[in-house]
Amino acid sequence: MAARVRKAVFPVAGLGTRFLPATKVMPKEMLTVVDRPLIQHVVEEARAAGIEQFIFVTGPNKSVIKEHFAQHPELEQVLAARGKTAELAELARSLLPPGSAHSVIQEEPLGLGHAVWCARELVGEEPFALLLPDVLVQTQGKNCLAQMLDIYDQHGANIIAVYPVPEDQVQSYGVVALGRRDGDVSRIDSLVEKPKPGTAPTNLAILGRYILQPEIFDFLLAHETGAGGEIQITDAMLALLKQQPFYAVQCEGRVFDCGSKAGFLAANIAYALDRPDLRDTVLAEIEKLT
Ligand code: UTP
Repeated sequence: MAARVRKAVFPVAGLGTRFLPATKVMPKEMLTVVDRPLIQHVVEEARAAGIEQFIFVTGPNKSVIKEHFAQHPELEQVLAARGKTAELAELARSLLPPGSAHSVIQEEPLGLGHAVWCARELVGEEPFALLLPDVLVQTQGKNCLAQMLDIYDQHGANIIAVYPVPEDQVQSYGVVALGRRDGDVSRIDSLVEKPKPGTAPTNLAILGRYILQPEIFDFLLAHETGAGGEIQITDAMLALLKQQPFYAVQCEGRVFDCGSKAGFLAANIAYALDRPDLRDTVLAEIEKLT
């Protein structure tokens, strides 16, 4: 039986340059979709999927992210004194259980692969989930990571979530080449970063949710000493692919690339429309604008 996935890594040390100046002082991952920061949406996804330990790879000026998930006694007292129970309940949603949040600093944003490598001691010798906080997957039933864990429970190994993108945009993404099917999932044969037009093996893009075996760290390390500079997770996954199976999972749900302005704005609208307390007023506002 596959070892249980208890830990999740959240890389939050990037510069967020596409959102400057909003991200000059505030981390991109603290931008809000409706009324909670991106990082909280993704942490809630991991919690609901059964993750118990939360590992944040933060930059030197990003302590606010870990603080967001900690208790805020003064605010709680004020809300309690004013009888604001609904707000207190909302605040409680942002709390992580004592001892479950950990952080490690990536001194310089040397790339996603390097950020993941920074988490190696906290992850240890066990499989882990990796969630990019700038991608949201809006689902009606089980969330994306939970769907992936269902597949992991059957097959073990490494799992990468993918989603179909329009053929004419595929060169902007990392895409997978599929191999044989194992029951209800396909093995991944290869990964291609930003394929040249006309050469993409599929239109299935890597979306930012992974379940990885700890051996990935061996290849991230090898890459650091070999190439230096920017360290990509894809290169390490390609190396691990020669030793262990990888499976592609197409999560049911709508994917929002919140690292781009259009994707972020679309996520705000979609998540607002999904909320009974907001849906009608937001629809009325949209109607006024169109
Ligand atoms: P992105 O490339 O989308 O984020 O990385 P970015 O570099 O911050 O954004 P732009 O392109 O400049 O606007 C995906 C995730 O990986 C983290 C980011 O914080 C983001 O959550 N990341 C990226 C790191 O933690 N460290 C890095 O060196 C690079």
